[in-house]
Amino acid sequence: MKRILVLNGPNLGRLGTRQPEIYGTTTLAELEERLRARGAELGVQVECIQSDDVAALIAALSDGAADAAILNPAALSHYSVSLREAVERCGFPVFEVHISNIYAREPYRRHSLISPVARGSIVGLGVEGYVLALEAAVTEANRR
Ligand code: DQA
Repeated sequence: MKRILVLNGPNLGRLGTRQPEIYGTTTLAELEERLRARGAELGVQVECIQSDDVAALIAALSDGAADAAILNPAALSHYSVSLREAVERCGFPVFEVHISNIYAREPYRRHSLISPVARGSIVGLGVEGYVLALEAAVTEANRR
């Protein structure tokens, strides 16, 4: 069975209560449950990891045991060269997701170091973006 990683970076553990006017009211647990259920329908195993620590995200990407990943790097998008390098080297496609439209927000959010090395990016579609990214990741994983 293909394995799809769903990685969420710093502060996304507080989804649902963190700035709901920007990030919505869906909690991370609800989102992860929805992705696992959609993954089951699509015949893949979805494994979810959230960490405020870049090292944990790099370790998950670097162990190589996935067929594709969905990554919301959160604030790390805007400055983490090390996370970018892990995405670049992991050997499977990584789909970047941002809940909000980072290009319509503060200037410091308008650049992602991850986008150039991601297979694709979905921004500004709320948590729905993860579901779309999962569908794309499964299509891609099944081609490999
Ligand atoms: C975010 C956007 C980032 O700028 C921010 O730091 C986040 C969430 C998003 O999903 O819209 O933590 O990645």
